[in-house]
Amino acid sequence: MNKLLFALFAVFCCFAVASADIWSFCDGQDPTTFTFQVSTLTLTPDPPVIGMNATVNVAGNFTEEITGGSSTFVVQYQVGNSWISLPSFTSNVCDSYECPIQPGPVTRVESIFVPSFTPHGNYRGQLEVTDQSGNTITCIQFVTSMN
Ligand SMILES: *[C@@H]1O[C@H](CO)[C@@H](O)[C@H](O)[C@H]1NC(C)=O
Ligand SMILES: *[C@@H]1O[C@H](CO)[C@@H](O)[C@H](O)[C@H]1NC(C)=O
Repeated sequence: MNKLLFALFAVFCCFAVASADIWSFCDGQDPTTFTFQVSTLTLTPDPPVIGMNATVNVAGNFTEEITGGSSTFVVQYQVGNSWISLPSFTSNVCDSYECPIQPGPVTRVESIFVPSFTPHGNYRGQLEVTDQSGNTITCIQFVTSMN
């Protein structure tokens, strides 16, 4: 996933130690089949705060070599009783990661500034990353509010 995607991932998808998780693996998918096994994922602060940095720490294990693939990030923003889809982001996995990615453990830390113009409100969405064979690297859905 590219830097922007990872940033959005950082902002919206977090594994909270101190508070309720806002993310889960995607409905209808078996995370044990994913080719990236997340061991820890923490976000500080959680939930993200508009006008502050959000920092994500992720650790996990690639169970196979990644030579390509794509990621798709979709977000919806709540307006009244309906959810409005924001433009989705699709990117090439190898644009921001040096491919091939070897199997084995990785850790990564990313900081992203949440711009002051980010609308307050409720968000939900999904990040799905697939590999060169169309297998799922990971798929995460989330729901959060930013105030
Ligand atoms: C956010 O992080 C960047 C780089 O890590 C830093 O330069 C900046 O001062 C931080 N901004 C805030 C508001 O903490
Ligand atoms: C990573 O996954 C591989 C393949 O499933 C496994 O053999 C290895 O023990 C795992 N490594 C860690 C650190 O979990």
